[in-house]
Formats: sequence, C-alpha cells, structure tokens
Amino acid sequence: MNLEKNSYLVPPVQEKSGLKRYDMITKHLSIDYTEYASVDEMTPQDQALVAAAIEAQKGSYSPYSHFQVGAAVRLEDGTIVPGANQENSAYPSGLCAERTAMFAASATHPGVAFEAIAIAASDHGHPCEDPATPCGGCRQVMAQYQHKFGRPIEIILAGTGKIQKFSKVDDIMPFIFDSLND
Ligand code: THU
Repeated sequence: MNLEKNSYLVPPVQEKSGLKRYDMITKHLSIDYTEYASVDEMTPQDQALVAAAIEAQKGSYSPYSHFQVGAAVRLEDGTIVPGANQENSAYPSGLCAERTAMFAASATHPGVAFEAIAIAASDHGHPCEDPATPCGGCRQVMAQYQHKFGRPIEIILAGTGKIQKFSKVDDIMPFIFDSLND
C-alpha cells in the first residue's frame, strides 16, 4: 500500500476560517439507455422477447402480492426461456420471475450464453404502465451470468406506457461486484 497515493491520508489544509479542507473529489455517474414508446419501435427479436415476458406472467403464482411478473431470457442460439414469480407462505422461500427464468435457462441449456432478458409485470391483473425494475438480488444473478459467459446481457423493462432497454447489467447496477469466482 502506497500511503502517499491516498489523498485522505495527506494532512488537510488548515484554512483561515478554521475549517480543514480535504482534497476530496465529487464524481458524477451517468448511464445511457433507450426508451421506446411502443414495441413497434423495437427489433423483431426484441418484440418477440417482450411478448414472451408478457405471456410468461400467466405462470405467476402470487397469492400474497397479487403482483404478476413475467420474464424471458433469450439465449445466444435464439432460444427463449420464460419464468414467472413464485410465492410461498414462508415469504423468503419465493422467487422473482427474473431468477426463475435465468435459473431455468442455465439448468436446461448449460453453457449457452444469455443475450437478453425482458421483464413485464401486472398488478392484480392490470398491466403496469411503468416498467417493473429487477430487485438487487436478481441484478446480482444477472451479473454472475454476464461474468460467466463473458458477454453483456441486455435488459428490457416493458411497461404499457414505455419500454426501457439497457445494454448491460452494469447499467442497472453501478459499482457492480465483479470479484466473482470463475
Ligand atoms: N418480483 C419479481 O418477480 N420481479 C421483480 O422485478 C420485482 C418483484 C416479485 C416478487 C414477489 O413475488 C412480487 O413480485 C412482489 O414483490
């Protein structure tokens, strides 16, 4: 460890006001993503993936939240694997749609990279206008597969009012934990 390189260890400057000034830097983080008003603006492959996520909501078992989430993973060979949230009376034993889809994809097509995942949700049967965003646990699982396959996974969040597309997991998970075991 090179102490001189750590600015916080450099003695602070004593200003006339009596306050100490440290050489801290405030940094800014920004991400690019695409927003579509309709699926018609998307590629046929992405349209099919969104349609699969919407269809997958039918597999939701959500007697507690009544929030139906559908997810669909597209593999690099074009295969689409659906998933839906599964709830349990012991709440933590349930699983989100995204992880249901990713684990099913990995279990049934081992070694085939994930290209994209689409997510759609409904509240008490009413399709959500705003896109539902994946929880932190699902983002971490996306990060794992992205790392494992060494290629970015696109994320498509589909609402009825707008659709958002992110080109890699890092964009929905800043400061991603990337010290993953291979
Ligand atoms: N849920 C998902 O399946 N995916 C998300 O992105 C957010 C939340 C599920 C978990 C639970 O079954 C229900 O939605 C309410 O939180």
